Amino acid sequence: MRKSVENKRTSETTSVKPRRFAGRRKRALLLVGVVAALIAATASGIGGYYYTGNAALLKQKAESNAKLADLDKAIVRLKAERLAREKAEKEAAEKKAAEEAAAAAAAATTVPTLNTAQSASCNRSTSHNNPASIDVIVNKKHCIVPLGYAPGDLVTAYGATLASEAAGKFAAMVETAAAQGVAISASSSFRSYSAQVATYNYWVSVNGSAAAADQVSARPGYSEHQTGLAVDVSSNGCSLECFAGTSAYSWMQAHAHEFGFVERYPAGYEAVTGYSPEAWHYRYVGASVASDMKARGVKALEQYWGFEGGSY
Ligand code: DAL
Ligand code: ZN
Repeated sequence: MRKSVENKRTSETTSVKPRRFAGRRKRALLLVGVVAALIAATASGIGGYYYTGNAALLKQKAESNAKLADLDKAIVRLKAERLAREKAEKEAAEKKAAEEAAAAAAAATTVPTLNTAQSASCNRSTSHNNPASIDVIVNKKHCIVPLGYAPGDLVTAYGATLASEAAGKFAAMVETAAAQGVAISASSSFRSYSAQVATYNYWVSVNGSAAAADQVSARPGYSEHQTGLAVDVSSNGCSLECFAGTSAYSWMQAHAHEFGFVERYPAGYEAVTGYSPEAWHYRYVGASVASDMKARGVKALEQYWGFEGGSY
């Protein structure tokens, strides 16, 4: 009996204990689950926050980097602009100094002064000596008489100021060339005695000596430009040495004579004319002379009219 009671107790004890354990385990498990859930939720929140925060930071950083790169580029550009500005200012200052030095050198250069008494010695010719005539010869052996001569019938056409007959023919030539698609303009035409003083002095300063200037520029009183019968042509801004390579030069070689103009200082005739070749300098002599020279293949006016040229 006692045993059965004890057994009962035992059995009660053994049957009650597992129930208690089961309850505790459930609660423990529940607690663990809740804690785990809380941890998971917190972790996910932190992770999400971290992820979101990190992306924003990365975006901000990328934007900052882009701004820095833009600033770097702006600094490089500003530096380059400053250097270019400084270079241009330096070059302009050097150019101005060179021009001032050249002007000072030119002012110090002795050039022939206007002296009508000189005419007798600088041109002894008894023909082709009227500066108002289209047959006048002007070179280093034949100055203009009088030295201060200026045409009384100057006309300006297409940028060229020439004696009226030459001006009319120049206009016709420019228009004919333009109709054929060839651009011809004037870069220099009539120059007074005093203008030639400035021109000659300029070349003395640029070339360094009167001897060097004499190869390319006439002394005052010795330039065809003073007669109003000479014009320097250019094409689309291409003047002086540049002109020889233009289609306008080819056109002039083929057609200038039709309008009475001749290339006055051709290559290969330096000893005859006294000047370096000038593909751009044309002298008006009238269509009959110009066409005859072309037909005969005579290149220099000195040869055609039988005058001495060359040096002074
Ligand atoms: N250049 C030419 C020779 C002149 O000065 O007239
Ligand atoms: Zn000229």
